[in-house]
Amino acid sequence: MTGPIAISLDVNGERVDAQVLPRLNLADFLREHLQLTGTHVGCEHGVCGACTVRVNGEIVRSCLTLAAQADGSSVQTIEGVADSGEIADLQAAFRDRNALQCGYCTPGMLMTAQDLLREEPEPSRDRIREHLSGNYCRCTGYQAIVDAIETTARLRRERAR
Ligand code: FES
Ligand code: FES
Repeated sequence: MTGPIAISLDVNGERVDAQVLPRLNLADFLREHLQLTGTHVGCEHGVCGACTVRVNGEIVRSCLTLAAQADGSSVQTIEGVADSGEIADLQAAFRDRNALQCGYCTPGMLMTAQDLLREEPEPSRDRIREHLSGNYCRCTGYQAIVDAIETTARLRRERAR
């Protein structure tokens, strides 16, 4: 099948109906059809993590996911989690700890970090590094990113007490 396929999905809380070519990947669909350009595309081979989004609550590489595969699913992008305030503290920590420079990797880093913090409120630095190991950053050397995530985890635990 090479003609367009009808898909219907929820993106950041809004229903989206579209016609997509079978080979269109989710990253390009988000960026080019929906203008959600916070999802970045680096390697397009599943290696760099810049394109990380959440599909039905799980983080995925949107460059390796076809838009047609997302039919019927709930997708959250960096715009969605930022606008809802879900990661406001994480964003502030990245800013305060100098965890972003060019910012190209940052949306994917934030999505991946939030995924870890939702699952593990008390991750060690090694665990943070392990969880981030699929996200490449050319600028920061990672130390500041780990600092920002560790700080966010601690502040969330303190607020939860
Ligand atoms: S662009 Fe998807 S992992 Fe690099
Ligand atoms: S801040 Fe530039 S690639 Fe990470």
